[in-house]
Amino acid sequence: MKALVVPKEQAETARLRLLELGCLDTKRKLSKKGEHLEIPITGAIPPEFGSYRVVWPDDAKYYEPEPTLRDLMRGHLDDDKLALLPGGWQIIGDIVVISMHSDLYPERKQVGDAMLELYPYCKSVYLDEGISGKLRRPCRELVVVRDGVDDPALTVHNENECRFMLDVTKVMFSKGNLQEKMRMSRLGNGEVVVDMFAGIGYFAIPMAVHSRPDRIIAIELNPESYRYLLENIRLNSVEGIVEPIFGDCAEMTPISSADRVVMGYVGNTRHYLEYGIKALKSGGILHYHDTVPVRLVPSRSIDLIRNEACKQGRRAEILDWHRIKKYSPGVWHVVVDAVIK
Ligand SMILES: C[S@@+](CC[C@H](N)C(=O)[O-])C[C@H]1O[C@@H](n2cnc3c(N)ncnc32)[C@H](O)[C@@H]1O
Repeated sequence: MKALVVPKEQAETARLRLLELGCLDTKRKLSKKGEHLEIPITGAIPPEFGSYRVVWPDDAKYYEPEPTLRDLMRGHLDDDKLALLPGGWQIIGDIVVISMHSDLYPERKQVGDAMLELYPYCKSVYLDEGISGKLRRPCRELVVVRDGVDDPALTVHNENECRFMLDVTKVMFSKGNLQEKMRMSRLGNGEVVVDMFAGIGYFAIPMAVHSRPDRIIAIELNPESYRYLLENIRLNSVEGIVEPIFGDCAEMTPISSADRVVMGYVGNTRHYLEYGIKALKSGGILHYHDTVPVRLVPSRSIDLIRNEACKQGRRAEILDWHRIKKYSPGVWHVVVDAVIK
C-alpha cells in the first residue's frame, strides 16, 4: 500500500486530482510528516505525479468506508448497466462534469442525483460530450441542478491557490494539465512573458500569482474565454502583471519582446510557431505544446522548433520535454522547452 509524499501546500490540489483520476485510496487517511503529507494511492502512479517520492507506510490509518457511485446506484441499475458507470469525473468549482456511456443516457438523471449525493457541496451535474474546434469549446448538457440555483453553469474553481471563474458550458478547464500549470507557476520571475493561447488564464494567472513576472501579455481569441480572463485577473488581483489582449496571436504577438513564450495550445500549434519564436529576445525560452503520435514523441516537435528557428536565422537549443497527458489513443500532449538564440 503506497503513498505519495507531497509538500503540504500542494497536498489539497494533488488529493483532489488523484480523487478525480480514481487513484486516491479513499479508505486510508492522509498522514502529516513534517512539511509533507503522505497521500495514499491505489494502482499505478499517474504520469503527471511521476516526480513525487513514493513510500510504503506501515502505520496507515483508515476511514469509515464512504459510499461509492456504484453503491448509490445499486437497486436503480441492473449489473450490466452498473458495470458501465464511469470510474472518474471532474469537479470544477462546485459543479460535477461527468462522461457517461451512451447506454446509461436514459438513467442520466439518477446518476446525476447520485453525484449530488456524493458531493453535497456541488450544485449541478453536467454531461460532458467533449471539447472541439479552434476555440476549444466544450459541449455539455445539464443533467441535474439543486433547487434554487440561479446559474448552474457558472462557478469559481480553486487551483494552486488561484481562483478561476468560468462557465463550464462555454469554456474548457483541463485538469489533466495540472502538473504543467504548477511547473509554469514557478517560472517567469522578473521576466516579460507572452502567453499566446491564454484561455481564462490557465498559465498566466498562476505565473502572475506565484512568480510575479514583470509583465504577462495574455492573448485570447475566444470572446467567452477572454471575458473570464478579465474576471480572473481581477479575482486574483494581478491587474499590474497580466495584460489581456483580445485577438488572434498570429496578429497580436509582439516581436522581440519576450523572455519567455508559452504556446499552450493543442492540435495545430505549429501554425503559430513562427510568431512564438519571433516574439523571443535572444536567449528567450519557448514552451511549445503539441499533440503528437507516440512514435514521433518528442522528435517531431523538436524538429519543428529547430527548423523554424533556422528559417529565421536563429538557433534553438532544446532544454527539456515532458509528457503532459494522453490526448487520444496513440497520441500524447507534450511540451518542449527550448532556448532560442
Ligand atoms: C487549449 S486552450 C488553453 C489550454 C491551457 N493551455 C491549459 O493548459 O489548460 C487554448 C486557448 O487558445 C485559444 N486560441 C485558439 N486559437 C487562438 C489564436 N489564434 N489566438 C489566440 N488564442 C487562440 C482558444 O480560444 C483557447 O481558449
